[in-house]
Amino acid sequence: MTGIFDSGAGGLSVLREICRQIPSGEYVYFSDNAHCPYGEKSPAYIQEHSREITERLVREGAQIIVVACNTATAAAIQYLRSRYSDPSDPQVRRRVLDLTEGRQDHLLFVGMEPAVKPAALGTRSGVIGVLATAGTLKGSKYLTTKGNYSDGCTIAEHVGQGFVELVESGELTGPHAEEVVRASLQPLLDAGADTIVLGCTHYPFLLETMQAIAGPGIRFIDPAPAVARRLSDLMAREGITQTGSLSVRLLSSGPSENLEQLYLRFVRP
Ligand code: DGL
Repeated sequence: MTGIFDSGAGGLSVLREICRQIPSGEYVYFSDNAHCPYGEKSPAYIQEHSREITERLVREGAQIIVVACNTATAAAIQYLRSRYSDPSDPQVRRRVLDLTEGRQDHLLFVGMEPAVKPAALGTRSGVIGVLATAGTLKGSKYLTTKGNYSDGCTIAEHVGQGFVELVESGELTGPHAEEVVRASLQPLLDAGADTIVLGCTHYPFLLETMQAIAGPGIRFIDPAPAVARRLSDLMAREGITQTGSLSVRLLSSGPSENLEQLYLRFVRP
């Protein structure tokens, strides 16, 4: 079983791709919507929540954890790996054996990757835009990736101000959604970006509104398909096989109505 989590419903954009690529799997998804958004929270706060959610998902039976949140990947994946991933560390081994009641001695994590590389390779204008949370834009992983590509192209960035709130309230289209989205997207278009990286898993749910604002000729890159491929490769490498029919369970720390609606609208095959 694979556990997937996010600060809210955004990680469903990753679950959607995972279900497309590995349709015979068993999945349990956790939305931490009682504490959403994570974007401006401290790394220590996000680490603590990510630890609690990981342990909850493992108790539900998860063998692999997908951190379907760019912000939590930036703030907490190293911390999670240091606590749970190296079975040659006796403390880690004991901790995971206790947690899994002897089922396994380490946990595997898959995180989000900022899709700067495909954007840099695909841009024709030489300008790429990155939309993400403040936490992701400050993270060392993003800064390193950006450094690797900033010679070949210009990278313009903007926080998707208010985007997470729109998705959490289920307001994906309409005049208000358009006004909120335009305020963060327009500066990237004005900078000449022809390729926009969606650096937060909530943002793909606003694609229709973003495309209406940007018009044709602007490409949006969602890293979810690449993350699903990495999960599939990792499962093959670890000899984890999933057979049978697709099963998905949704859990949340707050109200579940919007999560269920987004799931039914966008994810359920
Ligand atoms: N879905 C998120 C991400 O990918 C978290 C957004 C937030 O909670 O601010 O970054």
